[in-house]
Amino acid sequence: MRFIFTTLLLISGLLSAGAQTTDSLTLMPRPQTVKLQTGKFVFTGRFSIRISGPGSPKFIGAVNRFYLQMGKRTGVVFPQEYISGKEEPANAQLTISYEKSINPAIGMDESYHLNVSPEKIMLTAPTDIGAERGLQTLYQLVTPAGGGFYCPAVEVNDSPRLKWRGLMIDVARHFIPFEVLKRNVDAMAIVKMNVLHLHLSDDEGFRVESKVYPKLQENGSNGLFYTQDQLKELVNYAHDRGVIIVPEFDLPGHCSSILAAYPFLASYPANYKPAGRFNMDTIKNLSLGKIMLLINQVRTPTVDPTKETTYVFFDRFFKEMSGIFPDAYLHVGADENNGVAWKQNPDIAAFMKSKGMKNTDALQAYFVKRMYGIAQKYHKRLIGWEELFNPGLPQDAIVQKWKPAASTDTLVKTIIAHNNQVIVSAGYYLDMYFPAYIHYLTDPVPANLGTAGADKGILGGEAAMWSELVDGGNEEIRVWPRTAAIAERFWSAAGVRDADDMYRRLWAIDFELNDRAIDEYGSYIKILGRWVNDKGLDPAITVCNVYTQVKGYKRLMGNMLAPGGVHPTLTTPLVSIADAVHTDSETGWYFRHLVATYLDKHDATSLKQIKSQLQEWQSNKARFDALAGNSPYLQQIADLSDILSIAAGVALQAINNEGNKEEQLKQLQQLEKPNHEVQLAIGLSLEALVTGKLKPEPVAYPMF
Ligand code: ACM
Repeated sequence: MRFIFTTLLLISGLLSAGAQTTDSLTLMPRPQTVKLQTGKFVFTGRFSIRISGPGSPKFIGAVNRFYLQMGKRTGVVFPQEYISGKEEPANAQLTISYEKSINPAIGMDESYHLNVSPEKIMLTAPTDIGAERGLQTLYQLVTPAGGGFYCPAVEVNDSPRLKWRGLMIDVARHFIPFEVLKRNVDAMAIVKMNVLHLHLSDDEGFRVESKVYPKLQENGSNGLFYTQDQLKELVNYAHDRGVIIVPEFDLPGHCSSILAAYPFLASYPANYKPAGRFNMDTIKNLSLGKIMLLINQVRTPTVDPTKETTYVFFDRFFKEMSGIFPDAYLHVGADENNGVAWKQNPDIAAFMKSKGMKNTDALQAYFVKRMYGIAQKYHKRLIGWEELFNPGLPQDAIVQKWKPAASTDTLVKTIIAHNNQVIVSAGYYLDMYFPAYIHYLTDPVPANLGTAGADKGILGGEAAMWSELVDGGNEEIRVWPRTAAIAERFWSAAGVRDADDMYRRLWAIDFELNDRAIDEYGSYIKILGRWVNDKGLDPAITVCNVYTQVKGYKRLMGNMLAPGGVHPTLTTPLVSIADAVHTDSETGWYFRHLVATYLDKHDATSLKQIKSQLQEWQSNKARFDALAGNSPYLQQIADLSDILSIAAGVALQAINNEGNKEEQLKQLQQLEKPNHEVQLAIGLSLEALVTGKLKPEPVAYPMF
């Protein structure tokens, strides 16, 4: 939804009109099989539910949530005030049957069968979690029409393709408030994801209350951390929704915040503080190559793996954390340790020599082995980023692939040949600001691995939201709705790959996510509301809706590379246009469709709509300028408003066959260049109005 203006709303209506076919459903993730039947089930005041099954409190809660939300969606007053699972309403219209209640776990049976007929709805599943997944599908079938709401008669058989369907949220760089985490869990449940991986510590912050080592949160954070009670509540909240929680404490590197609390753990003495790993003053204004060299050569805060006191500390700490996080996994990071801190410490070098270790990789393998031992003691499977892997790694340890290098498939194959399982995050890094289709078209299972390899070795995938440029104010804008497309990649059949159809459904799911879970719309309006100082949002929305961030790490790295560039710190306010805009422009998508239709048919209706939209953009400048005095924020993006207006004017000229086409194309290409770390999302569509040819969207974007 996102406050699209009238012209485009009209198109959105046209796209969803017409006879019901499976292609008009907006299910996401798309189920394994969907068969439309004749007729429809209409929601009336007779909609009641009967549960046939063990009646676990977790599932009763899920059904009650569903019932209340369905009431809100349809506006109908339903007859059951409270569903306890014990009552047997006469002529119940929805019967849910399941055999057993289970605790969420990887590999659980999440399958379900849903049959909607004009008279009744039957949902059956082997487990309560499968039935919960089925309720989400049922909710997504609800369609408004003819003054009421209905579900098309349909038969759905569904189960996930991959067992591990995760979302990682970095809560260390910027703290993500507790309530935001809960809303993310709600959203994950809607799109049938089952793992929330919390990156709980990094150089910039330690975010968990420890009673055994309280300095961790006292010295390792800026006072922003989760209490143990909150985390226990979050675990229960997630379990109720079929989601497990995997805690990550990043070691042996990425640990300044831990060393700030307990410096005796460090590989070298220093005045440790929770802060970024590198002194940004030393790497500002360097070439990318030099920065990369430095990253490999600079000593960074790292735990000393040679001292027994280190393992005593982490044994006690992980024992405490096991009491808070009951799920079967412990993530210890293990990424990006360049070994320099170890090489430069003579005692550590002597230790390596005494053990016959040839390099710091061998010492890292030793550290990983010790962490594995601790994880085993507390009945956890060890997980780490791909640097965890070494040929001596026990087979039940899980490796998380993250590097986007071409070597991805080779490493994955090596790991699988070694009989370790893999979670794939390469291709699903949300901090790269890639549009949803890029992630969607990336399959987590390397092509030549085959089904056998997929079943055995690829446990699943995980979207990753690193938070250098994300905080509680924009996390939901960044993660959603893109992650719904990734959730489909992990749940649905590999052959479901029509990106355009994905977007058609993504906008519908975005509305549902906001309606039932997240506050993405609210976050957007809050940032823009600050800009206009509470007066006249619409012109600012019109501008922001057609911009997306520059793609890749240009923003994060760009401000290190640029002369005078500023690297974001914990106190950098994330309120700029690049922090606010969506990563996919819904307005841009609908406009592209309109242009495509026009170029195909040259019809008067499309032409009229295009002109009306372009005029709206062109004349928005005057409305925006009238607000510009409201706050300095707006003055900062006045040029973006000008660009939109000028670009729309150029396209109007072209469509009216006025002016010189070559000049117009040049002008548009100039206007499309990044500005304030954002770019026009309607560039290719405007160009098409000049050239008569709509270029395809890029199949890839550079990382830098
Ligand atoms: C990582 O991105 N360093 C796991």
